[in-house]
Amino acid sequence: CKRLQVAIDGPASAGKSTVAKLVAKKFNYVYCDTGAMYRAVTLEALNKDIDPRDDERVAEIARQIKIDFEPGKTEQRVFLDGKEVTHDIRLPKVAANVSAVAAIPAVREEMTKQQRKIAENGGIVMDGRDIGTTVLPQAPVKVFMVASAYERARRRYAENQAKGINTASLEELQKAIELRDKKDSTRKVSPLTQAPDAIKLDTTNMTIDEVVNEISKIIKKRQ
Ligand code: C5P
Repeated sequence: CKRLQVAIDGPASAGKSTVAKLVAKKFNYVYCDTGAMYRAVTLEALNKDIDPRDDERVAEIARQIKIDFEPGKTEQRVFLDGKEVTHDIRLPKVAANVSAVAAIPAVREEMTKQQRKIAENGGIVMDGRDIGTTVLPQAPVKVFMVASAYERARRRYAENQAKGINTASLEELQKAIELRDKKDSTRKVSPLTQAPDAIKLDTTNMTIDEVVNEISKIIKKRQ
């Protein structure tokens, strides 16, 4: 059977990466977390004291840094110029600035180029905001995952607690999620939006297994 490109898009904390990882494992596909790439650019800008709104300097960083993924035991490991940043890219200061970095057209251009290269041979599950609309518009499988903002905040809160991370309150998490969605949906270049041919999955009342099974059915039909 054919090794397909699978695009999974949707708002922050909708469970895309959890599901994408499981789907990739099931079909023996590669998983690519494109949000991690924007986060790595953001982290490097912050580390170098560059203003995340300084388009030119941030774009230069996007073109210069080398981002690598490596499968880990429980999570995908992320490397920035050879140094592991798996955890640092999840820091609140990165989350708070990543939407500004991701709104810079030259940054998106560079990330899109790298993402297309990663996906060129198929057998890939890529999650993000603009995969079905911009990065892989020809992908035979496109899913747009949504869930209520409250449910997404609740999941993130539970996840943080399980990991022992000293987390913000549920209300604070929901506000931060809603703010990021708003910025991502209203930016000029490839905003977060459902591709016309994407299948929408509202996961508010679905278990992870149910979501994985739903997407697996779609993949099997197209293979
Ligand atoms: O998926 P994650 O929440 O880690 O993404 C972090 C941020 O990266 C998003 O809020 C968005 O601003 C940006 N992003 C993007 N396009 C993608 C993936 C992520 O603009 N394909």
